[in-house]
Amino acid sequence: MIKVINVVGARPNFMKVAPIVEAMKRREREFTPLLIHTGQHYDADMSDSFFRDLDLPAPDIHLGVGSAPRAEQLAAVEARFAPVVEREKPDWIIVVGDVNSTLACARTGKKLGIKVAHVEAGLRSFDASMPEEANRVETDRVADLLFTPVEDANENLLAEGIKAERIRLVGNIMIDSLMKHLERAQQSKIKTRLGLTTNDYAVLTLHRPSNVDDPKAFKRILEALAEISRRLPIIFPVHPRTKKNIAEFGLEEGIAASSGLRLIEPLGYLDFLSLFSGARLVLTDSGGIQEETTQLGIPCLTLRENTERPITVTMGTNKIVGTDPDKIMTHAAAALANLSRQPVSIPLWDGHAAERIVAAL
Ligand code: UD1
Repeated sequence: MIKVINVVGARPNFMKVAPIVEAMKRREREFTPLLIHTGQHYDADMSDSFFRDLDLPAPDIHLGVGSAPRAEQLAAVEARFAPVVEREKPDWIIVVGDVNSTLACARTGKKLGIKVAHVEAGLRSFDASMPEEANRVETDRVADLLFTPVEDANENLLAEGIKAERIRLVGNIMIDSLMKHLERAQQSKIKTRLGLTTNDYAVLTLHRPSNVDDPKAFKRILEALAEISRRLPIIFPVHPRTKKNIAEFGLEEGIAASSGLRLIEPLGYLDFLSLFSGARLVLTDSGGIQEETTQLGIPCLTLRENTERPITVTMGTNKIVGTDPDKIMTHAAAALANLSRQPVSIPLWDGHAAERIVAAL
């Protein structure tokens, strides 16, 4: 029997861990999966709703760490996770993605001599100012087994001197969830509730510290969005960090003046999938959404200076437009002028990454 601790902590983890736990449950004679939630995200709409939408079982253990500055949060997760690992003595700890919980739990496993597997290994933005980049690099250094989503991730790891035998190209785990739930998501009432018609609106997400923690940068992006929203309504589910800063920087009035920019609460997995899959255009600073839009052939403008997911750009669906208002507006106009949607096909983004991961373990 192989005992595995699967770690979730923040919103982008849930859709990556759900298919892995499910694949282990299908092989219940070989695997005993445990699910640990660090509690990095704790709001109902940042966490609970994802368990329902993704059929993810309730966590076996909740560490309840909550929000804190990065170093404190890393330390808090390690301190609370270590006794769990010592008690449960798993064969493997699986961490996914690049959030603080990912690194903290990988470090804990390493210190306690437990094997660690990292899913979504090898992504690099080469932007050291991003906390996620620091989390990715260190997690890959300490993990024993590195599951990569694309060939270029293997190349990044090899270039860092990581031995090929630690690396397995398994494909994109998030696409497992996307493919499983796409049809069910169409039953969501979110578009009707918001009075939207497919292809007649844009979707925006924005939460990177570099975009929303600096009032100047945030205002510049809002300028471009106000302009675009004159042509096409922009639906904006607002992340808690962003919401806090809108209030703190006194941006409510400016936003209210652009009637095409509609702020809503963060959405669950199925509602968000339904919403963005019907959008004419997506604007985002998220990592995962660049991949999800690519898989569905939806034009995406990434409001960052770089990406750790360059395949989304080479496939032609994603453009890295940065935060300069003129550049954002020019690219938005070009995307809106082009009506064609081209679903793409990337090797191993096929809905079976979890099976390959479990087989490798
Ligand atoms: C984290 C991840 C980021 C990911 C994002 C998705 C890191 C370094 N960053 O960023 O990669 O894209 O999650 O959402 O791990 N808050 C709440 N309720 C919650 C969670 C957070 O109100 O459930 C507020 C708190 O005020 C907190 C702030 O949001 O201080 C930021 O949360 P935090 O988890 O530190 O980082 P995110 O910006 O969410």
